[in-house]
Amino acid sequence: MQAIVLVGGEGTRLRPLTYGTPKPMVPIMGVPFLARTLERLHHAGINDVILPAGYMPQAIVDYFGDGSRLGMKITYVIEETPLGTAGALKNVEQHIHGPFFVLNGDVLTSLDLQAMIAEHERLGGLGLLHLIRVDDPSAFGCVVHDAQQRISAFVEKPPRETAPTNEINAGTYLFEREILDMIPAGRNVSIERETFPAVIAAGKGLYACTTSDYWMDLGKPEQYLAAHRDILARRMPMLALEPGATGEGAAALARVARLELPVHADAQVTIDPSAVVGPNVVIGAGCSIGARVVLRDSVLWDGVVLEEGAIVEGAIVASGARIGREARVFEGSVIGHDTTIEPGRVLDAGSRVGATAPIAR
Ligand code: GDD
Ligand code: MG
Repeated sequence: MQAIVLVGGEGTRLRPLTYGTPKPMVPIMGVPFLARTLERLHHAGINDVILPAGYMPQAIVDYFGDGSRLGMKITYVIEETPLGTAGALKNVEQHIHGPFFVLNGDVLTSLDLQAMIAEHERLGGLGLLHLIRVDDPSAFGCVVHDAQQRISAFVEKPPRETAPTNEINAGTYLFEREILDMIPAGRNVSIERETFPAVIAAGKGLYACTTSDYWMDLGKPEQYLAAHRDILARRMPMLALEPGATGEGAAALARVARLELPVHADAQVTIDPSAVVGPNVVIGAGCSIGARVVLRDSVLWDGVVLEEGAIVEGAIVASGARIGREARVFEGSVIGHDTTIEPGRVLDAGSRVGATAPIAR
């Protein structure tokens, strides 16, 4: 079995983080998200992976190479211009030899891929889509199906009032190779807006399996923070997480008087014992937390400096950023790579500070 992981999106909703790091390389608990996805594939015995990329592909190639380090074979296909979620599949047709998985590159889930293979064998048809139930389906693809799981309609991002169902496309598909015959070559094609409706209209069997797995699309800052909260609270199962303060920097946390778990810290962090840390905090490798800092509900990437008296709540701070003395960064703020927030500056909730175009690295 092969898998295609779609990693060509620009990650616009995560800017400025994605001006320095392409979305698949954005760290989850300190590890690029794509590494976690590839581990999941490897665990399911799927080791032949094709990555259609286009936005900052070099960062992905540099990290994963040919995949041999992970015991996998990775084939990269770089799009000159974005081909869309189906065009990207058509563009790698010559590498696909049989049934294959397609994974949206920004989905964190506990879905069992082997169970999906068994379900597809049972149901037959051209493909099987993983669905999940959500409260508000308007930001997703709505999928209508009958009691036999056969899909009768796919409506991408409908207005909330007209959404036909709260069962949504969770971004994992298992297809027969013939689906590629239904995708036109040489142009941008959306699988959600074009291919799925065409397959349904042609009467080819497209099936749905709804599960109650953990599931999160990491495309927006609030979802990125929520995913970390869920991992820390063990709502999303992730290996090697013991109760209590975790990570190679746990010893530095042990000296903090006002520590509220869960908190995770990576290697070589320095934390002043007078800081107030947690809950729901992830501190990347080499970060430095000064005296009287207040740090809550936030994710710091590597090498971030919080100077004395800084307050950081509900924020994402990218690698190499520095938050000056007594500066305040509030709820939903995103600070880009190597960005300095001047001492005393107060950033309103939802601020985005950093690069305004891709950073050449
Ligand atoms: N190679 C390539 N080329 N990849 C692309 C392109 C492209 O032109 N456009 C998007 N992608 C990748 C993105 O990197 C991402 O991994 C995936 O395709 C989905 O794109 P998003 O931009 O994240 O889509 P979305 O989150 O708005 O909606 C999609 O995901 C939802 C579930 O998370 C849709 O598939 C919805 O139907 C679905 O509910
Ligand atoms: Mg997405």
